[in-house]
Amino acid sequence: PAMTFLLLAVSYLLGAIPAAAWVARTRGIDIRQVGSGNSGATNVLRSLGKGPALAVALFDILKGALAVWLAHWAGLEGFWAAACGVLAVLGHNFSPFLGFRGGKGVATSFGTVGVIDPVIGAGTFVLALFCMWLTRFVSAGSILGAASVMVMTVMLGRPLWLCGVLWALALLLIWQHRDNIQRLTSGTERRLGAGTEPPP
Ligand code: G3P
Repeated sequence: PAMTFLLLAVSYLLGAIPAAAWVARTRGIDIRQVGSGNSGATNVLRSLGKGPALAVALFDILKGALAVWLAHWAGLEGFWAAACGVLAVLGHNFSPFLGFRGGKGVATSFGTVGVIDPVIGAGTFVLALFCMWLTRFVSAGSILGAASVMVMTVMLGRPLWLCGVLWALALLLIWQHRDNIQRLTSGTERRLGAGTEPPP
């Protein structure tokens, strides 16, 4: 139990590393003051460009994956290994380095899901990317990806504990997008490649 607690704590701190905010700060930009105000790779893409955005996306994916790998390596399996991934996402979304605020957990959730359930991870990756490419809304692709995770857990008959973990991750991700959902329905969401200003 002490080991499990330690791994959960380490996962939270790993997830809490605010890559987007820190990378932006090295360029003199406060990520919370530009574009959507979100400390995530999408907003880094808007305000800093492709290179930094890719670096932040990969780092944030790795945070989720690493938390689960570390748990496996330490001998945790099943629910508790998955819980470490969830803690990494919580660290990312509610980071003590950002006053318990943070990103929306898209990349970190993807890293987590990719390791605990590679089939669902790959499926959601293809669907989300296709939706982003089609609509040019990263938020819409992320939300569709989360919804597809929930559908796939049921379709593929995953065990109840795994359904619980993946549904919790997906619902948290959708909740984190509540502002985006409002913008999507009011037609003011920023499209990919449109810069930091919202459409009129
Ligand atoms: O990176 C999260 C994405 O789904 C939305 O980000 O900055 O458009 O709110 P953003």
